[in-house]
Amino acid sequence: MQLNPARVSYAAVDRALIGRGHAAAARPYVALHPRHEATPLLPLASLARELDVGAIHLKAEGGRMGLGSFKPLGGVHAVARLIQAHAARRLGLPVLPTELRSSAVRSIADGLTFVCASAGNHGLAVAAAAQLFGATAVVFISETVPESFVERLGRQGARVVRMGADYEASMAEAAAAADHNGWILVADSSWPGYTDIPLDIMRGYTLLLDEAADALDRMAGPASHVFVQVGVGGLAAAAAGYLRDRWGDGFTFIAVEPAGAPCLVESARVGHPVRVVGAPTTLGRLDCKEPSLVAFELLARLADGFMIISDAQAAAAARRLTETGAPLSACGAAGAAGLIALAGDASLRRAIGLDAGARVLLIGSEAPAAPTLEPPGE
Ligand SMILES: Cc1ncc(COP(=O)(O)O)c(C=O)c1O
Repeated sequence: MQLNPARVSYAAVDRALIGRGHAAAARPYVALHPRHEATPLLPLASLARELDVGAIHLKAEGGRMGLGSFKPLGGVHAVARLIQAHAARRLGLPVLPTELRSSAVRSIADGLTFVCASAGNHGLAVAAAAQLFGATAVVFISETVPESFVERLGRQGARVVRMGADYEASMAEAAAAADHNGWILVADSSWPGYTDIPLDIMRGYTLLLDEAADALDRMAGPASHVFVQVGVGGLAAAAAGYLRDRWGDGFTFIAVEPAGAPCLVESARVGHPVRVVGAPTTLGRLDCKEPSLVAFELLARLADGFMIISDAQAAAAARRLTETGAPLSACGAAGAAGLIALAGDASLRRAIGLDAGARVLLIGSEAPAAPTLEPPGE
């Protein structure tokens, strides 16, 4: 693990990007999805005993909107806001979130095409959102994305284009297609000049932190340690920003990356976003070789540490959690793998104050297999 020497207190500059207010603002948009409801926060008592910490709670996102991961919180929020802006321009009137599924707005959404690149879950989110509002989705996936996602994307009404050797290559194809066809690029990563849409995606994710913190406040009080897995860093940055706004600076936040794509660890080491060359990894949804700019900037200020786990550690954590009644994929259990690895190392435990009184929050970001639910109805 690498402690973050650049860590500073949560400040107005962070709150402007991600904070509690964004969860409240995003809720009416995300609530338009007919399957929107809070996911469970599971106490993992036997794992807490085994790791000699006070408590572990896992926010289990596998059932989110019947789509298998937390990602629709971001996709639905961002797509809804884009449709709202288009409709308001076309109608010459402000459009409320509650009007987004009206026939007047639907007839405008009908002419819009949203395009994204995805390792699977973000594509499902954008496809579900487009379907919800009557728009079209085109999803670019790289050669590495499992075929099962193609079938699931089809069920959400998306057109799927398989192109590019890795996530970054499929992103370049999606961006080129957006430019060429006048489609709207909905990327979950950000770069100079492209930050508004990815920020809306991250602000949608804050709803899961809002739910988790509400449930913890009712049950056990704020966490002392939070471990979150990283692809481009959007989820971790949303978590760090929201939870620092809510709980302050007193808890320890660790971002966890796969050994095959340690883009955040490397970027934090050199102090700016860099692209890494990583070995092949089975953790496909975390296999992002370059961090999101906005996510990097937030995490560089707000995370206490960055760590790397192996594919085998993530798979073992998934098995362990599945046995204890929290079924997860290896990607979904990667944050837990970070906790398990760190808890077994006495000097690292001391370095981050992980002791028998620690109360840990984890995000189980993905169910183990594709859910069999049908796409949302009216
Ligand atoms: C299951 C799962 N977990 C974690 C992540 C990481 O999120 P981010 O790319 O925002 O870091 C993703 C990203 O797609 C994911 O699909």
